Amino acid sequence: HGRRGEPTDLAGRHVVVSAGGTREYLDPVRFLGNRSSGLQGYALARAAVARGAEVTLVAANVSLPDPAGVKVVRVETTAELRDAVVGAAAGADAVVMAAAPADYRPLETSTSKMKKAEDGSAPVVRLRQNPDILAELSRERPRPGCVIVGFAAETGDAEGTVLEHARAKLARKGCDLLVVNDVSGGKVFGEADNEAVVLDREGGAHDVPRGSKSALAHVIWDRVAARFETG
Ligand code: CTP
Ligand code: CA
Repeated sequence: HGRRGEPTDLAGRHVVVSAGGTREYLDPVRFLGNRSSGLQGYALARAAVARGAEVTLVAANVSLPDPAGVKVVRVETTAELRDAVVGAAAGADAVVMAAAPADYRPLETSTSKMKKAEDGSAPVVRLRQNPDILAELSRERPRPGCVIVGFAAETGDAEGTVLEHARAKLARKGCDLLVVNDVSGGKVFGEADNEAVVLDREGGAHDVPRGSKSALAHVIWDRVAARFETG
């Protein structure tokens, strides 16, 4: 056991965690972004260090101090996030995609600051899809047996329940574990606490009671460590 009593079940393991939300620039000073705080990814990084892992944290636009004992790589865009995660993941034992990459980026980015139209008109911003990092990692596997974990914030709708959407997403992405937050109430972003279910690719589900992001982080590493055991 570690200094604070946590198990050192991740000793000798290298894990990569992504955190925060990406920015997609329209021009040098303006971007499309999202409200991801990075708190869950940082909690995952701290929990993994406490359990003995070597941790690389790829942080997109997070205003939090670097956790002790963690290698932090700072990025802004989804393209940068992808390159940093894929680079750090070479030889890693697990990758957890807690970051919120923007689904789209502007088709064109102006190299100079865009001026407001003098005739009162507004520009139309055309978008294109960003690469899906989680799907790529799941498909290419940085090394055999590397455990790939995704996150999903879902709401139920006419097409299906939260869990049905989550199951479909896990299958579509091809990851090993999917941590699902029910955001039907419109909460979660920037909140201190989290409530989740961890789905695995074999069809299993682990309910995580409402608790701290640190508590959820430890449950996620429990599930990852269990997969290391079984191979
Ligand atoms: N993700 C990723 N690359 C992207 C988008 C998402 O790696 N371009 C990862 C996220 O980090 C998260 C998981 O995929 O771990 C699920 O993200 P989500 O936005 O729910 O998935 P999408 O496929 O974008 O589906 P949705 O239409 O619900 O946004
Ligand atoms: Ca998305």
